[in-house]
Amino acid sequence: MKTLEEYIKMTEERLYRIFPDETKPQGEVIKAAKYSLSAGGKRIRPVLTLAFCEMCGGEAVKALDAACAIEYMHTYSLIHDDLPCMDNDDLRRGKPSCHKAFGETTALLAGDMLAILPFEAISGSADIPPSAAVKCIHALSSLCGADGMIGGQQIDTANDGAELPKDVLVDMYSMKTSALLKAACLCGVYCAESEDEIFCAEKASEYAENLGLAFQIVDDILDVTSTPEVLGKQTGSDANNNKHTYVYTYGIEKAKEAAGHYTEKAIEALEAFRDNEFLKRLTLSLLGRKN
Ligand code: IPE
Ligand code: IPE
Ligand code: MG
Ligand code: MG
Ligand code: MG
Repeated sequence: MKTLEEYIKMTEERLYRIFPDETKPQGEVIKAAKYSLSAGGKRIRPVLTLAFCEMCGGEAVKALDAACAIEYMHTYSLIHDDLPCMDNDDLRRGKPSCHKAFGETTALLAGDMLAILPFEAISGSADIPPSAAVKCIHALSSLCGADGMIGGQQIDTANDGAELPKDVLVDMYSMKTSALLKAACLCGVYCAESEDEIFCAEKASEYAENLGLAFQIVDDILDVTSTPEVLGKQTGSDANNNKHTYVYTYGIEKAKEAAGHYTEKAIEALEAFRDNEFLKRLTLSLLGRKN
């Protein structure tokens, strides 16, 4: 297994390889996509893809195009999430949000571009065999759709101000946040082409489900307790948008407990793998993250 820095470096060196030329007449949308992609995200999702590939016996480089694909998809979700018609946030990754820097129309299109690019990256990869590529594309498209990330965002935005029962709240987090993390881990599993793929995929999904719940609850806590300087995005955004987050519904203390609980369950799922030290440490560090 490599270090966090090594996984991030590998990803960032590959990230723009298939990017179209910015000097074309449509260059503005390409610049906007690059702007958001390079603005300083933590790269947790591509790291998960690479680490799962290695943990399941594959070479990380085999999953590199899939890792980039996941970061494109994630960045698209953030660009759209910040739009005035969604969370209306002006700061992202420590810089003006895409629509603040490029205007709403270009930001919308840059998001669209980054939502499509994953399929080009995976299907055109020289490192991912066709059978694994089909599985990655299926995981990504199904988990980001109406029963996954988009479904979660729909419930999140449609229910602004309305009371959400606990199971709906947890389902919403599972869809809007765990689903893409699941796709990230599954892409790593598929690119590894292990003989134990079915078992690895099951455990990877269990891990990502719980990691996503913890991750989103921590995100909601930081929205209340952090500052824009540290967080790199506006704080108080959830209250401004009347979001019924876990923190709003149960208070900070219960939210912290829940984040700890889901982190423990995620770490338990990692017990199924040998060589799980890297991911155990990463998972625990995400519970105490500052941004
Ligand atoms: C933010 O994700 C969106 C959530 C699901 C809470 P990250 O906290 O991973 O954002 P970046 O990629 O580091 O900017
Ligand atoms: C976003 O949740 C989840 C996505 C699918 C983008 P939030 O709206 O809480 O994410 P932040 O806080 O803006 O990053
Ligand atoms: Mg949102
Ligand atoms: Mg938001
Ligand atoms: Mg948030």
